[in-house]
Formats: sequence, structure tokens, C-alpha cells
Amino acid sequence: MKAKLLWYFLILILTFGCNKSQETRTVENFNSNWLFSLEAKKDSSYLEQTDAVWCQLNLPHDWSIEGDFNENHPATYNGGALPGGIGWYKKTFKVEEIDKLKEFYIDFDGVYMNSEVWINDHYLGKRPNGYIGFRYNLTPYLNFGEKENEIKVKVDNSQQPNSRWYSGSGIYRNVWLVKTDKLHINNWGTYVTTPIVTVDSATVNIETSIVNNYNETKNIVLKTTVLFNNEKITENSNHLNITTKNELTFSEELKINSPKLWSVENPQLYTALSEVYIDNQLVDTYKTPFGIRTFKFDLYKGFLLNNKSVKIKGVCNHHDLGALGTAINTRALERQLEILKEMGVNGIRTAHNPPAPELLDLCDKMGFIVMDESFDVWNNAKAKYDYAITWKEWHKKDLEDFIKRDRNHPSVFIWSIGNEIQEQWNEQGVETAKELKAIVRNLDTTRLITAGMNPPVNMDNQDVTIQFDKANVNYNALAASGVLDLIGYNYAHKTFEYHPQNFPNTPFIATETTSGLQTRGYYDQKSDTLKRWPVRWDIAFTGGNPDNTVSSYDQVSTPWGSTHEETWKVIKKHDYLSGMFIWTGFDYLGEPTPYVWPSRSSYFGVIDLAGFPKDVYYMYQSEWTDKPVLHVFPHWNWKVGNDVDIWAYYSQADEVELFLNNESLGIKKKEGDELHVMWRVPFKKGVLKAISRKDGKVVLVKEIKTAEEASQISLNADRNTIKPDGVDLSFITVSVLDKNGTMVPNAMNNIEFTIDGPGKIVGVDNGDPTSHASFKASNRNAFYGKCLVIVQSLNSDGIIKLSANSQGLEESSINISLNNN
Ligand code: GAL
Repeated sequence: MKAKLLWYFLILILTFGCNKSQETRTVENFNSNWLFSLEAKKDSSYLEQTDAVWCQLNLPHDWSIEGDFNENHPATYNGGALPGGIGWYKKTFKVEEIDKLKEFYIDFDGVYMNSEVWINDHYLGKRPNGYIGFRYNLTPYLNFGEKENEIKVKVDNSQQPNSRWYSGSGIYRNVWLVKTDKLHINNWGTYVTTPIVTVDSATVNIETSIVNNYNETKNIVLKTTVLFNNEKITENSNHLNITTKNELTFSEELKINSPKLWSVENPQLYTALSEVYIDNQLVDTYKTPFGIRTFKFDLYKGFLLNNKSVKIKGVCNHHDLGALGTAINTRALERQLEILKEMGVNGIRTAHNPPAPELLDLCDKMGFIVMDESFDVWNNAKAKYDYAITWKEWHKKDLEDFIKRDRNHPSVFIWSIGNEIQEQWNEQGVETAKELKAIVRNLDTTRLITAGMNPPVNMDNQDVTIQFDKANVNYNALAASGVLDLIGYNYAHKTFEYHPQNFPNTPFIATETTSGLQTRGYYDQKSDTLKRWPVRWDIAFTGGNPDNTVSSYDQVSTPWGSTHEETWKVIKKHDYLSGMFIWTGFDYLGEPTPYVWPSRSSYFGVIDLAGFPKDVYYMYQSEWTDKPVLHVFPHWNWKVGNDVDIWAYYSQADEVELFLNNESLGIKKKEGDELHVMWRVPFKKGVLKAISRKDGKVVLVKEIKTAEEASQISLNADRNTIKPDGVDLSFITVSVLDKNGTMVPNAMNNIEFTIDGPGKIVGVDNGDPTSHASFKASNRNAFYGKCLVIVQSLNSDGIIKLSANSQGLEESSINISLNNN
């Protein structure tokens, strides 16, 4: 009997399993084995030149990050001072004869910028926007069988400046080859909404767009199944007719009992599985993850998620991944989100453009509230060659594609149609906003539409109490227009409390706040020089520290922003202030405000470019999470004669007592709305100890010791086991320690890395915004005691050994195992 059954299965596998033509949709990662060449001369016949130098690489790829920093690069230091240029990519591939009746599409998730694509020398088209995903149909131009196909992509990022931050250059996001039946669900072809949600049940509305490229009408069955944790919850089947060369959008409603809601703490996801049958044969399958949740921006109570108040504690982030440049890597993004989650962040604003699709997938899974942003400029430019050049021709298509691409993500709650758009001050801006709103509404009715505006009145006169008034010549026309569902503006925190008077009918979100400036690990003291105290943003650079450091106490910000504490104190005070997005979560390449060379990256991050938290991270952690926090800083390596300010952020405790060499320096408690306590302490070598207590009981103890000379290196990986897939990463923190294991806070030692086994070093960094060392080198200086090495797996099992050497320090090494589980 057993043998018979085995035969039966074997026959089944032979008939169906191995027959390729039985396959429904396949989505193949198309990143590997491309050839790349950076164009030396501007010449359209470049590809035919025999001296073109091609190198082989895998996507995603950012060629700018491999270049040298130079003040004279046309991107300027706002763009990160790295080179742009024109790059060519090409790849050959075969398509099997058996697939002759199939359709083939190539999907680019994002190419910066001005991409043009050819298949077998047939021109497929151009896409100027560097952030949006796009697709081409390859089918009519393909060779099937043994003859190769060649895809060519030209990427033109030569006209600069075209961005106010580092953009990266190249095919920096994923590429997919999609094979479908002639009848299939369209690209971004589903739209899932949940119009009615109660504790007992949820109504799920699913629109599915199906295209029929056969030369005849097809009778099909569309079967939609809702899954939770891979288990079927409900399903629905419908017979439909689709005429030849037509697209049909079918809408259906399904009911889910006792729905599991998506929330920030518990981001539960469902999947809609769409299956299309012709004559009982499955021809297409398509999966749409979605979430069930209700939300509202209330005029008085702020943001309500599933009827519960949730303050949006958000950050803005640009899209670069530090040393990796803009080349997308899911683990690198996930690590950023993990670090933010630890800080208590629950919101992300995708400043100022469509993010990588993987970011939204992660936000869905990890529970973040996303403000999804489309543009930094409309028709009026901010940089000479920016998006304004292509605005007229492309904005409709770009915005439509953006909404279609992102509208099923439960993490997306707000659409932003622009950031600090120049036209906001006049009627032209209002008209454009109306047009954009109509485009968005036509495709999604479920989210609120806002823009990161400048304040509602021009703040030049600095009268923050001014009432919003149309009689005021400086009023913000877009804010006044009533077009936006949510009034969102950047900075001007002192006006926030006037919001209910200024805009009694529209809820509020602080789309961008703070712009604090800090160098991780560096601290100015009052006793140093008067020039540095209090530290002002303008002298912080022009008359400030010659090495362009900015003190890490939360005391420096741009004049349009505030210290971190100042803005958060306002936001936390009123329920009607639904939340804020700090500028920024992470430091980013470019915009080294206030613009003094050799700085080439920003100082705004709560976390530095390498991913190391600055001190103010712990202020947020003490305010934004429930865990007990005691963070005491700075270090304890000063000169005798220095008076040193010791700050402590703490939570889940009533008081903190500080001791120096076991002698109490007194107990401090936060008074009023204070968010930290401080002692000014004359330096004496030894041990500072802080104890936080609640009701007299010890909650946490922290010690900071005077470090001796540097003598050893510690290596600490965020993950000691990674996947052997050629993509996964381990982020290794390198610290310089003294002989007792105390970090040496001023250590700048150069450390050389060597690697053995199936891995490679793909980036090094230390968070220093002024460094011009290459991110791709195999050595790095420690910066205030620390640096980072990023190791990527190769495609085989084994153990990677990373070793760190530095003159005068003991050698150190760490093992990273490669394992699929
Ligand atoms: C804002 C702008 C951001 C960034 C920031 C720096 O006005 O929206 O993109 O430039 O200033 O403080």
C-alpha cells in the first residue's frame, strides 16, 4: 500500500510539480550579476566605446558612497560632498522556451535618478523621480530559449545640486523579474480597507484589478482568502468575465469575526490571498498583507488608535544607511528601527520622499505610525536641478504610483503631499494642494492628508503669540485654505499652544521639530572658555570649536528649532497636540548645519551616523518608555580644575543621589516640568556613582570611572549569528578600553580590521561628521572611544572571524556564525 502511495505522489510531482508551465506568478530577485560602468565622458555612444570599464556587482548599489569627499563636488556638502555622475548597468539573462506564452515584467523599487531602460536595444522608457518604484513590460521584446536577453539601464545623477541631502546614485533599491500569466492581477493591483471595525467583527473591502492580455474574453474565478498566521479565516469566490485587453476592478466584502487589531504594541497582520482560476486552473496568486485598526485625529484628544489615545512620538529620517550609503539593506533598516523602538519611538516620517518598500513592511511588522511623504518641492525649486524641473510632466503619475504602492500598509496613517513647499505662501500653492489632494483622495479615502508646512504665520518677527489672521500679510495661504485634513507644521513650538484658537476645526501634528545639534561623546564645559558657553548654534561652528564639534548636552539647536526638552515639554502638556516628529532620528549624510567644511553630515540625529545613541536618546527613553532609566553623563576624564556638569536622565524613580569616590554630592529630584537633574562637580579622579531610588528603594545604580590609558579593544556584535545569504549583516561595535575594561572616552586610535571566513567588510564608521575617511576602508579611527564595522555574509556556511588591531593595544577578535535558522 505504502509503495503504491509513493508512486502516486511521484506521478503527481512529475505531472504538476516539475512542469514549469503550471507555475503561476513568480517573483524573482533580479539583483545579482550586473555589470556597471561609470561614464567618464558625456557621450551617447558611450556603450559602444571599447575602452569602457565594466565591473561586476550585485544590486542594490550606490556608487557615490564609494567616492571621495570633496568640497568641490557639485552636490556640495549639503548633498554629502560625494561625487555624482552618469552610470550604466547591464545584465544578460535567458528565458525558457516553455514560458513563451507568459508575460515578463521588470520592477525597479527605486533608481536615483533619471533612469532610462532598454531591453535588447528596445527603449522602454525614462523615470526622472529617484524614489518611486516603476515597472516595464518586457514581453514583446524578449528572446526565448538559448538566445540571451540584455537589459541596460542608464542612471543620470550628473546635474547637481538636485537634493538638499545625500541622495546616493544608482540602482540603490531592489529589482524584481515578475513572470505572470497573460491574465493576472495588476501591479499594486489590490486595495484593502476595513470600513467597519467593532470588537465583534470587521468588514474587509478588497478591490482587485485583473488584466486580460489574451485575445479573447476570459471567464475566471477570483478566490479571495483571508489568512491570519497562515490559517484561513474566511474566503469568497466569484465568477467574472474579462473582455480581451481589458482591466477589471472587482470589489468584494468579507467579514472577520473577533478581529485581531493592529496596534503599535501588537502589530497583528492579516493576509489577503487572491487566486485567479481559468477553467479550474490556477493562473495567478497575489498576497496583500493588511491590518485592521481604527484611528482618528481628534480636535481635543489628539490621535486615537483603536479608540485609545496614543501620543505620536516620531522621528523624521532620510533614506541613507550611513556607511552603506543609500543601497537598501533590510537588516540595516531593521536595526535602525530596533534602536528607535528601544528609545520609545512609535512614529516615522519618511522625509521627504517615498521610502523603500521594505521600510513600510518593517513598520507594519514592528508597529510604527508612518507619515508617508511624497515631495520636497513642487513647481518651485529649492536646489538648481531638483524635482521642480520635472514637476509638471511627472507629479501626477509619481503621486498616483506612490499612493497605489503604499495604501495597503496598516502602518501608514498620514499622507504628506509635501515638505516646506515654497508655494505655500500664495494661492498657487493652494491650487496645487487641491489638485494633489484630489489625486490622493481618488485612490485612498482612509488617511488624513497633510503637509510639513512652515509655521502658519511668517515667524520672522518672532512674535510667537501672534494669532493666525488672514489680515496678516505673512499668513500661510496653504494653512489658511482648509485644504489639509491635518494642520502640520515644522518647528515654531511656541505657537503650538495657540493651535485651538488659530485652527479651531482642524487637528494638529508637529510634522517636524527640534533640529538639535550634537556630536556624540563631546562635551563643552562652562569652565573651558566663555565662548563655548552657553553654546549657540551659530558660534558652535563659525566661532566655536575648531574641530567642528558640538557639545552633546541638550543645549544647542538651530534658531528655528529648540532643544529636545523644550519641544517635548509642550507636546506632552496637551492632548490636542497629537504628537511630533523629531528632526531627526539618525544623523544623515549631507546638510551639516550650519554649513562649515570639513563637516559633511548632519548633527541633528538623536543617534549618530554609525547608530550610536547620543545622550539625549535616554531623555526620550525616560519619557517615552515604561522601563526604568538612569543615564548619567558625561564621562569622568577631565583635568583637575575643571568644573564638570553631570546630568542624569531618570525614570521610574523619585530621586537620584550622586557620589564621588563614595562621598555624597547630594540628592536631586526633577522639579516642575524638568526632564533632567544636574550637579556641577569639580573634577577629581575616581568613580562617580549615581543611585536612583523609588520610595527609598534602589532602582538603578550607574558608575562612571576615570579611564586609564587605552590598552585593549572590545568587539560587540548586534547579532552573532547571521544568514549565509550574501545579504545579511552583523553590526560590530568596537570600543577602546583601558586595562580595567573602562571605555576610554577620548580615544581616537586607528583600528585595522581583518576578516577570515565567508564574510566581507561592507562598511566602517565612527559617527564623526567631519571625517573624510572612506566608509569602505578596512580601518577606522575610534571617535570618542568607539567605531563600527559592518560585516556581510557570503553565500556559504561557516564562521567569520573578525580581528581588530591597533598599535599599542591588545589584539581582539570575534566570531560570527553563519546559519539559516
Ligand atoms: C527643515 C527641513 C528639513 C531640514 C531641517 C534642518 O526646515 O524641512 O529638511 O532641512 O529644516 O533643520
